[in-house]
Amino acid sequence: MNVVSVGGGAFQPYDVVVGRGLLAGAGQRIAPFVRGRTAIVSDETVAALHGPALQVSLQAVGIRSEIIAVPPGEASKSFAELERLMDRLLSFGLDRKDAIVALGGGVVGDLAGLAAALYMRGIDFIQVPTTLLAQVDSSVGGKTAIDTPRGKNLVGAFHQPRLVLADIDVLSTLPERQLRSGWAEVLKHGLICDADFFNWLGGEGGAGVRGDPAALEGAVVRSVEIKAAVVGADEKEAGRRALLNLGHTFGHAIEAELGFEEAALAHGEAVALGCCMAFRYSARQGLCDPAIAARVEAVIAAAGLPTRLAEAGQFAASNLLARMAGDKKAEGGGLTLILARGIGEAFVSKTETPETVLAFLKEEGAA
Ligand code: GLY
Repeated sequence: MNVVSVGGGAFQPYDVVVGRGLLAGAGQRIAPFVRGRTAIVSDETVAALHGPALQVSLQAVGIRSEIIAVPPGEASKSFAELERLMDRLLSFGLDRKDAIVALGGGVVGDLAGLAAALYMRGIDFIQVPTTLLAQVDSSVGGKTAIDTPRGKNLVGAFHQPRLVLADIDVLSTLPERQLRSGWAEVLKHGLICDADFFNWLGGEGGAGVRGDPAALEGAVVRSVEIKAAVVGADEKEAGRRALLNLGHTFGHAIEAELGFEEAALAHGEAVALGCCMAFRYSARQGLCDPAIAARVEAVIAAAGLPTRLAEAGQFAASNLLARMAGDKKAEGGGLTLILARGIGEAFVSKTETPETVLAFLKEEGAA
């Protein structure tokens, strides 16, 4: 078991506990943060799989809980579901000294976290992430949000959890594709700032994407350490936190063109492809050696993740560019892209011209 502390002065520090069999002892770890009861926000699938174990462990330390399950899937990150959730919390009678537990993946964590930020002007919440993506990314750092018809994550708040419990054992029930999708964010962390970690993931650590618990644990711990260091220094994404968007500007544009259809491309798959594109773009601009971009592509392909635009579908370069320019991360005249000088050497560029990006997208196979 490992404990990573998050927070560097900007917000109240909290622990991310990573280990095996944590769900059974979750009650004891959660107890200091709740009085006599808590609402467990989950989705219907996860609630059926892990809800009873969490409730039993809470009950063992005298905490009464109620499960509020939303339908699984991105559609639950909506105003309608947020309103329903608020109403359930009010009818359960939670007050400002109570806390919410988010049991699930990124959708549940984002929705429950936003509900916690808003409920009675803000109550505590605890994250129990059950997907790899949530364990290594969305449960840490306090970003919470819902979507609107105009785009994803456009309504939200920074609201840090009080505790994160990442139980490696719950990953054994994840569908293979979801595990691979989370793996993309793990690889991303190595690409941003830790070449040794990336090399380990490309070798022995690669067993994690095939479900090996020891490799998964190592991958989650190092990812959380990297994310903790970044968000501890820049909670509100004024600078360094933007590095965590490596692969996301290309990836979001591709996802948006596909209508955010999970069946067509899962988020992590889009990020994996986006990371390959960011490295190829960097190589094209003479910022990094093309051999490095090829190595990144090889490791990502070996993990069963897409590396080429054609694997995701057919795209018009001008549409992708418009999506990239419309991304909420775009600033001023230039496009903001996370680029790299090498593996583990990512940096933020705010000056990429639309013409260059358009030419690159065409070279990548967009029409
Ligand atoms: N997932 C990117 C961030 O938390 O900033």
